[in-house]
Amino acid sequence: MIVIPGPSSPGLGEKVAEGLGVEAVPVEHRLFPDGESYIRLKGSVRGEEVVIVQTTSPPQDRHLIQLFLLARTAKDYGAEKVVAVVPYLAYARQDKRFLEGEALSIDVVIRLIEASGVDALLTLDIHSPDVLERFRIPVKSLSAIPLIAEHLKAKGFEGAFSLSPDKGAIELAKMGDAVLGGGYDALEKARDRRTGEVRTREKRLPVEGRDVVVFDDMISTGGTMALAVGLAKKCGARRVVAACTHPLLVGRAVERILEAGADEIVGTDSVPGPHSVVSVAPLIVEGLSDLL
Ligand code: R5P
Repeated sequence: MIVIPGPSSPGLGEKVAEGLGVEAVPVEHRLFPDGESYIRLKGSVRGEEVVIVQTTSPPQDRHLIQLFLLARTAKDYGAEKVVAVVPYLAYARQDKRFLEGEALSIDVVIRLIEASGVDALLTLDIHSPDVLERFRIPVKSLSAIPLIAEHLKAKGFEGAFSLSPDKGAIELAKMGDAVLGGGYDALEKARDRRTGEVRTREKRLPVEGRDVVVFDDMISTGGTMALAVGLAKKCGARRVVAACTHPLLVGRAVERILEAGADEIVGTDSVPGPHSVVSVAPLIVEGLSDLL
């Protein structure tokens, strides 16, 4: 077996190779002057089971193309099997046609991943589990929430209240609560499909003087998280942590969340960045066992 740390996940790829105790094949990559991606594998993959670690956080389209180029090149050079580890799967939120005429983006992305030669895929905290059923190859999604909660427990958040910013993410709050043990609840969120604006229904939370951890699958613009953090503070919370698996944190997301009253933002290296303090490498190493 061999690991290819893709250009979007070099650090995580190296850690996964280390955890599996196998060699990592370096990748030469750059952009042509017109913006096209160049990819070259700098090692042999012939006859090997190949694990490509390539998240598809922004710039999503470039990272997807790099994934396709890596998978096809590995197959062209005789890889026996290609398993893609895509911790953050881009376009998973566009899993429905919310408005007439919209692209069903995730379905197109899935078909392209399969066509590029990927034989199995591992992802983390996929936006909606229903998306997994649309793949024709073996696929699984694991949750990094227990790892994040363990990290926070070790930092003194045992007994904190676990909150999810919308009903769809209540399972995340439940998983957080299984580690932190301070109870859990979910807010009710509505998003305007045309403007993207998010609203949260006001609710009384039993958090007066207590620590709160808001768990979500991802933070993009920070709008959803800022509303949940703000409501927890309004209900008297002491410290509030904004926690997620995929810290995309685009634009003013960090400022918005901190301005809403969060003490800390905790994410994982599913998406590398300054708030990616928990590594998902051990989870991936364990999760790969039945996909290889
Ligand atoms: C949506 O349902 C997701 O779980 C996240 O809550 C959402 O995508 C985060 O986006 P933003 O940070 O832009 O509000």
